[in-house]
Amino acid sequence: MLRFMLAALLATSTFAAPSARPQLPQVFEPCPTSSPDFEACAKRNLQKGVAVLSDGLPAVDFPPLDPLFVPELLLDYRGNEADVKMIIRNSETRGLKDVDILSFRANLSDPSNMVIEVDFRIPALVIKGEYKTQGKIISFPIGGKGVYNISMRDLTGTWTVRGDLVTVDGEEYLKVRHVNVLPEVGDMQVYASNLFTGNDELDKAALRFANLYWPTIYKELLPYADEGWDKFLRGQLNKFFLKFPFRAIFPEN
Ligand SMILES: *[C@@H]1O[C@H](CO)[C@@H](O)[C@H](O)[C@H]1NC(C)=O
Ligand SMILES: *[C@@H]1O[C@H](CO)[C@@H](O)[C@H](O)[C@H]1NC(C)=O
Repeated sequence: MLRFMLAALLATSTFAAPSARPQLPQVFEPCPTSSPDFEACAKRNLQKGVAVLSDGLPAVDFPPLDPLFVPELLLDYRGNEADVKMIIRNSETRGLKDVDILSFRANLSDPSNMVIEVDFRIPALVIKGEYKTQGKIISFPIGGKGVYNISMRDLTGTWTVRGDLVTVDGEEYLKVRHVNVLPEVGDMQVYASNLFTGNDELDKAALRFANLYWPTIYKELLPYADEGWDKFLRGQLNKFFLKFPFRAIFPEN
């Protein structure tokens, strides 16, 4: 998938020529969508793309993938026993460059519902940042502000990108509407300072609880985190998909 996109980006940064179509350097294999090898080819290119993008491409506004900086994520959880709002700021995620692309599938046949799915595995991720939370669990008010970190091992999942074709100035572009990533995690360790402002004992108990019951908590929180991720990733992907015509990224032949 990324071949032409990346090629176009590299071309823009290397041989900037504002009015001409970006040229395609030979870093990536050509992957025509009509070829029976299209999906396998796209998978290989995506794997190469991760390496190319891991330091980012500032010339085209593409941030480094590793570490990935996320300025802000909002998480608004409402369950039976809890009602918690969380703002997560200045998060840095390390480990994405080690992602293994396991497979790539695309169904581009319906211009109003194009779907790309990528199966992946990541050996380890460490996320660090700041958080602020407020709300209540059962009837306990909670309100904390501090730093957090999460280390995760053996993440596997499917990255699903959905979009549709839009026409701008006579050119067709893929506009991404949703990006979903719901990885399964093999192991997780969580740390957060100052969850219950000024109450160390309660902080420690809460962290012990979280580290013991993380699979349940993770499963419960995931859909809420997914909304924040969707918004962030959609924005990142659209920087490219709305810059380069669909057929430049996915040539037919
Ligand atoms: C691709 O999507 C179309 C409709 O969007 C569907 O009819 C078709 O079966 C799908 N093809 C595959 C291979 O899944
Ligand atoms: C998370 O922060 C705690 C406290 O500062 C530290 O002891 C721990 O090593 C950190 N974990 C990671 C994975 O950075």
